[in-house]
Amino acid sequence: MRVVVIGATGHIGGYLVPRLVRAGHDVVALSRGTRQPYRVDPAWGAVRQVAVDRDAADADGSFGHLVADLAPDAVVDLVCFTPESAALLVDALRGRCGQLLHCGTVWVHGHLTEVPVAESAPRRPFGDYGIGKAAIERLLLAETAAGGLACTVLHAGHISGPGWWVVNPAGNLDPAVWRDLATGRPVLLPDTGLTTLHHVHADDVASAFVGALDRRSAAAGESFHVVSPAALTMRGFAESAAGWFGREAVLRFAPWSEFADAVGPEHAAASWDHVAHSPSVSVAKAAALLGWTPRHTSLQATFEAVRWQLDAGRLDIGTARMADPGL
Ligand SMILES: NC(=O)c1ccc[n+]([C@@H]2O[C@H](COP(=O)([O-])OP(=O)(O)OC[C@H]3O[C@@H](n4cnc5c(N)ncnc54)[C@H](OP(=O)(O)O)[C@@H]3O)[C@@H](O)[C@H]2O)c1
Repeated sequence: MRVVVIGATGHIGGYLVPRLVRAGHDVVALSRGTRQPYRVDPAWGAVRQVAVDRDAADADGSFGHLVADLAPDAVVDLVCFTPESAALLVDALRGRCGQLLHCGTVWVHGHLTEVPVAESAPRRPFGDYGIGKAAIERLLLAETAAGGLACTVLHAGHISGPGWWVVNPAGNLDPAVWRDLATGRPVLLPDTGLTTLHHVHADDVASAFVGALDRRSAAAGESFHVVSPAALTMRGFAESAAGWFGREAVLRFAPWSEFADAVGPEHAAASWDHVAHSPSVSVAKAAALLGWTPRHTSLQATFEAVRWQLDAGRLDIGTARMADPGL
């Protein structure tokens, strides 16, 4: 089957493209071509890479046609952020492609009521990103319900893996939090530290896309959560991460405004996004309909990411050592 992957060289694509090649698919990888995948993999040798700027091509109306002209059996769209962009792609693919899989986000839920939240929960998104992704989900599922293109939406949690900084126990990307946990320095957490975070390993996201391709009829017109088996509390995450370095976490807690002043505007904005959403998300539906289960817990996924930063010399923890915690 020919699979076109849009946004193919990022966190997800770095795992997804080699998985698709190994499954015997003819893969066409689209990106602007400004970066290489995080991981070297010989499978890329069998992939046709097409350089295109989706934003520019959407603006002149050419993007959907470019994708449709590649004659895909399925399209995996990893970088779509507005319903207008999604509609252009759907219009171009309708009748010319068997399946469109879209990467969404658990932020479509907004504030949660029952946790872990199920896909069937009413959407109450806030913030441009979550609102845009919820609008895309509505559009795609309505398209399939109306008998058009078979669309599937996979909502990912905080994507983690080797090669990039992952969401830390304070809910932001500040590498100093890992350093402080590793070296026994105090780490500040907002409020009681009981905000939840829900990570997922990038390879588990990739395997969920493969599962949705393999079970096209079960996946059509459905959305699925793609996260680790369970969310973490910030506090528990910090305590576990300190243990990777043989330490007890030294934690301090502060009301939100004090926390925000202490960590500065960039990290406070990221932490706020996580505090406000406090995700805890069910994966039962993907297990039942796609036969998909995540291979990594949140701690395994984040451990691997931090280990990579350390091995790459991008995290200075002085004389501290990271042990294998046997996760
Ligand atoms: N990061 C998270 O924790 C998280 C959580 C939930 C959901 N998601 C969802 O995950 C998806 C992103 O996947 P990812 O994390 O694998 O992406 P990523 O690591 O940010 O990589 C983006 C990919 O898209 C390409 N790209 C970026 N802008 C492009 C453009 N204008 N035209 C064509 N290609 C473009 C990039 O290559 P070039 O730069 O070379 O073009 C790269 O291949 C999004 O839909 C996002 O909503 C992410």
